Amino acid sequence: MPLLEAAMKAREFAYSPYSKFKVGAAIRSESGNIYSGCNVENVAYPEGTCAEAGAIAAMVAAGETRIIEALIIADSPLPISPCGGCRQKLAEFTGPEATITMTTLAGKTKTMTIAELLPGAFTREHMEKG
Ligand code: THU
Repeated sequence: MPLLEAAMKAREFAYSPYSKFKVGAAIRSESGNIYSGCNVENVAYPEGTCAEAGAIAAMVAAGETRIIEALIIADSPLPISPCGGCRQKLAEFTGPEATITMTTLAGKTKTMTIAELLPGAFTREHMEKG
């Protein structure tokens, strides 16, 4: 499965000396291309970035803005759940039915849609003047 392979490969390069928690993410875009990312921490802790943010940045830098599905992997007991900020970041580039697969290295998997992960999302419609 190409998404899983891409996320696993990116995870190996995660820079996480502070949390010691490596995360990999992979996105399949509208064109069928796959973009991956890993978490990149910083000694100034809030400056660290999540794996999802890295994968999204790679996709946008390649000229794409539509996510069809994404996969996240970590060595966790439960399928890794994207943080709140990453749910919003993913939602920017997906429709509500795009699927996010959350997995563990051991193979536990859970798949949810963006609408399920981020109910009541803040969207560009909220920016329209009433
Ligand atoms: N992390 C991610 O990369 N993605 C998530 O969705 C959850 C958390 C990273 C951030 C930090 O480097 C480490 O996991 C521990 O929180």
